[in-house]
Amino acid sequence: MTTAARLPKIGFLGVGWIGLNRLQALSASGFVEICAVADPNPEMVAAALIEAPQATPMMALEDLLAADLDGIVIATPSALHAEQSISALEAGLAVFCQKPLGRSEKEAQAVIDAARRADRLLGVDLSYRETCGMKEIRTLIQGNEIGRVFAADLTFHNAYGPDKAWFHDRQLAGGGCLMDLGTHLVDLSLWALGFPEIGTVSGRLYAKAQIAGPNDVEDYATVRLLLKTGAEVIIACSWNLNAGQDADISATFYGDKGAARFRNINGSFYDFQAEHLVGTERRVLCGPPDDWGGRTIVEWGRQLASGSRFDPQIEQHLSTARVLDQVYRAHAR
Ligand SMILES: NC(=O)c1ccc[n+]([C@@H]2O[C@H](COP(=O)([O-])OP(=O)(O)OC[C@H]3O[C@@H](n4cnc5c(N)ncnc54)[C@H](O)[C@@H]3O)[C@@H](O)[C@H]2O)c1
Repeated sequence: MTTAARLPKIGFLGVGWIGLNRLQALSASGFVEICAVADPNPEMVAAALIEAPQATPMMALEDLLAADLDGIVIATPSALHAEQSISALEAGLAVFCQKPLGRSEKEAQAVIDAARRADRLLGVDLSYRETCGMKEIRTLIQGNEIGRVFAADLTFHNAYGPDKAWFHDRQLAGGGCLMDLGTHLVDLSLWALGFPEIGTVSGRLYAKAQIAGPNDVEDYATVRLLLKTGAEVIIACSWNLNAGQDADISATFYGDKGAARFRNINGSFYDFQAEHLVGTERRVLCGPPDDWGGRTIVEWGRQLASGSRFDPQIEQHLSTARVLDQVYRAHAR
């Protein structure tokens, strides 16, 4: 007679906006059991307990580490990610961390090293990879359907900017819109192109329409990557831009046989369309409805439930952290 496998026991650390959203997705997946939620803000804990009434309310990471869990989900302010992830991994827990994994390549590397040493599954929420549009576009590029990609253009302009004070504190957030939104764009470009070798990196940071000083939190950023393939990737992102709509999000890849474009619909943060462009022709690859936000965490939950341990693919995240480091470092000079 076989006995049913026990579901991994999971705790959530930080159940603010995105923590609560991802808790709903993971809870609905059925891959894990959500046993604890920890947040110093009792209102956040109360809201999370509505979604996971069986979970034990807690205050801090130390409570979760003492709770006999298999893994934790970290969705705290960015400055805390690396240290909290390392503590959890060293205690033998699998970790799913919000982006950015660290505020620098050094921090991200330290987390990945801890995961490798502990042989524990480590996931990062680079959620836009899981939109149906970006998945289709990556397949098109990797299948050589648009030919040799020589240029890419990615934007993420958020007409509002974050409403929480910590995002505007360099120490707590690690940077401004580049750390917040640029992380997604650099990752998306490299992931879609199969993580090519990067030649040179340059960029510019602005704060309130002026070149940003070393202590400013940038609200407009551009990055230019020259890849060893010869391709050029141009990235622009911002908070509080006069964008004429809520958000302007796109990723376009130009090849010698065609192009592929991902873009948001009517300024939406959630609805996207992907298209294959050839000459004046445009073929829609996919569009809404597409409930993509929770896919990355659900996949982490599925892998954990199937016994997965350290996956070296996580090292891809270092390329993105390195690019951001280079832009911030050049700017601080
Ligand atoms: N993957 C994505 O697309 C995506 C989207 C939004 C946010 N994020 C990332 O998620 C993180 C959280 O963003 P948010 O918008 O949910 O912020 P938030 O401020 O709404 O939530 C953070 C929560 O962490 C709690 N907290 C603070 N210190 C803590 C500690 N020491 N231990 C436990 N909890 C603590 C706060 O009380 C709050 O409830 C950020 O790093 C952000 O970059 C990622």
